[in-house]
Amino acid sequence: MRGALLIMRRLRSIIIVAIACIILAYSLGAVYGEVIIPNGQAEQEDEHEPFAEPSTPHDDRPEPRSPDEVDDTSSARDLPCLEETAMVTTEGIQIVTNPDHVLVLVNKERNLPPDYIPNDLVAPEIPFPFEGDDPRKLMQREAAEALQQLVAGALEESLELYGLSGYRSYETQKQIFAYNVQRRGEEAANQFSARPGQSEHQTGLAMDVTSRQVDFGLTQAFGKTAEGRWLKEHAHEFGFIIRYPAGKEQITGYQYEPWHLRYVGVEHAHAIQASGLTLEEYLEKK
Ligand code: DAL
Ligand code: ZN
Repeated sequence: MRGALLIMRRLRSIIIVAIACIILAYSLGAVYGEVIIPNGQAEQEDEHEPFAEPSTPHDDRPEPRSPDEVDDTSSARDLPCLEETAMVTTEGIQIVTNPDHVLVLVNKERNLPPDYIPNDLVAPEIPFPFEGDDPRKLMQREAAEALQQLVAGALEESLELYGLSGYRSYETQKQIFAYNVQRRGEEAANQFSARPGQSEHQTGLAMDVTSRQVDFGLTQAFGKTAEGRWLKEHAHEFGFIIRYPAGKEQITGYQYEPWHLRYVGVEHAHAIQASGLTLEEYLEKK
């Protein structure tokens, strides 16, 4: 009788633990809003960070500038020196010393300080495929205003772009990367997901964008849609670059991401577009 009772109790504990595991796995999936992309990889989203006030409408925003109006020889060419904008820790890790610079280079070699949080995060007034106050809507103010112009520019061509994932804290990126490693293994995760401190999303200068045609997902097929093609041609007019282009994986360290926009300002975006260089190459060139 006692034996049977003990077995019943064990069974009950096992069932409770199993249910808890299922609930945990489900909520991770829901929280990160995972979007599978064609080669079986994924980029995750988050909903954990504090929210800043939305920005107000900006009717006095400047018009995007054409390449003719951009002075190629101006101070726009004063590029930050890569060697001088990183310090090396005793563990040999490079930490950038110019995290607030619009041209900050963050990648697999160059880390943001873990406690770096941009100080002027606002939500651009653009459509998002989800409701409510959410840190994923945030960007640095200058980038947010430029993104509003970009989305309005696309709309003039009857193209509807949606924001999906902007600012992420170091802690959020840590959770996302760990989740991706758990799901895909470290080698695969490393191709599409940044380690904490190495994500441009922590700078507040990046936004992943999407469209209805790709079900508001992050998929390489987005690059072939009218919205994706328009972005490739026009993002620079508003100060953005497609940060992880096809064919440059060895340089950027990441797979092609037609959805990941990085703000660098109009002058640099024009120069980068005209040169066909990645941000790494552009900054190394000086
Ligand atoms: N998907 C880009 C590389 C990131 O995780 O920041
Ligand atoms: Zn991204």
